[in-house]
Parts: sequence; C-alpha cells; structure tokens
Amino acid sequence: MKIWIINGPNLNLLGTREPDVYGTETLDDINRRIQDYLIKNGHIYEFFQSNSEGMLIDKIQDAYEENVSGIVINPAAYTHYSYAIHDAIKAVSIPTVEVHLSAIHSREAFRKESVIAPACAGQISGFGSTGYVLGIQALETLLSEEHL
Ligand code: DQA
Repeated sequence: MKIWIINGPNLNLLGTREPDVYGTETLDDINRRIQDYLIKNGHIYEFFQSNSEGMLIDKIQDAYEENVSGIVINPAAYTHYSYAIHDAIKAVSIPTVEVHLSAIHSREAFRKESVIAPACAGQISGFGSTGYVLGIQALETLLSEEHL
C-alpha cells in the first residue's frame, strides 16, 4: 500500500515541546519507528510535516494525484478549526485516519472538538507515538476489507 504520514504545526518541535504532554521522542525518532513498521509490511511511504495550512492542503491534494491508498494525519491545532483541511480530505476521498499523541478528549475544552474527524475513517488519540502505527494498522484493515 502507498501510505502517507502527514503532520501539522509545531510537531517539528516534538522532543522539546511540552514533553510531559507529548513525550520526549523527536519527530525523526517517531518517523524512524513508523518507517520500520512500514518497511516490514512492504508499504511505500512518505513523511511530510508543515506548519502551514496551505502546504498541508497541497500535500493532501498531491496524494490524490499520486494515487495514495491511505493517509495518517496528525493535523495538530488545525484539528480544532480547519474546515479547509476537512474539505481537502473529503475532496480527495482517500481513507484517512486522524491521530493525536495526547488524549485530546481529556484536555482543554477547545481540544475536544475535531472538525477534521468527520472527514476521516476514524480517530486515534492518547496512545502517544504508537498511535501512528495503530493508524497504519487501521488503514491496513480498512483497505483489505474494501477488497472483500
Ligand atoms: C495534538 C493535539 C492538538 O490539540 C495540539 O494542538 C497538537 C498536538 C496531539 O498530537 O496530541 O499540536 O494533535
């Protein structure tokens, strides 16, 4: 499967950013771990991170052009207010799993709502970086069921 892992704003600062909330792994550490899983399972993959909403939308649109089978996205703070990212996911209609490192439903009130989730196949939140691997496994299950 062709799987893209997309990360939104401030996730480039993982490792030093609020380690009590987000852990001490850097984004490179996390991506290495995800990469191990992707290689072991024979997937084609790409990692992308941007702090800019437009760049994230461009990447989601590129995924359509590139025939990507599934997307795992952590939209970070855009989760809570980017209708544009919601629309981009809907527009490309690629199975997408939303992932959050922290348990967004047990934090501040503004984090409880995701405007992206309704455009996604599902949401994984609160399992730290393991959530990305769980997201890929969810896509594997989803895409294999599509072919039943
Ligand atoms: C986050 C949760 C968001 O509320 C926050 O804005 C982030 C990270 C997470 O992975 O837990 O930047 O998406």
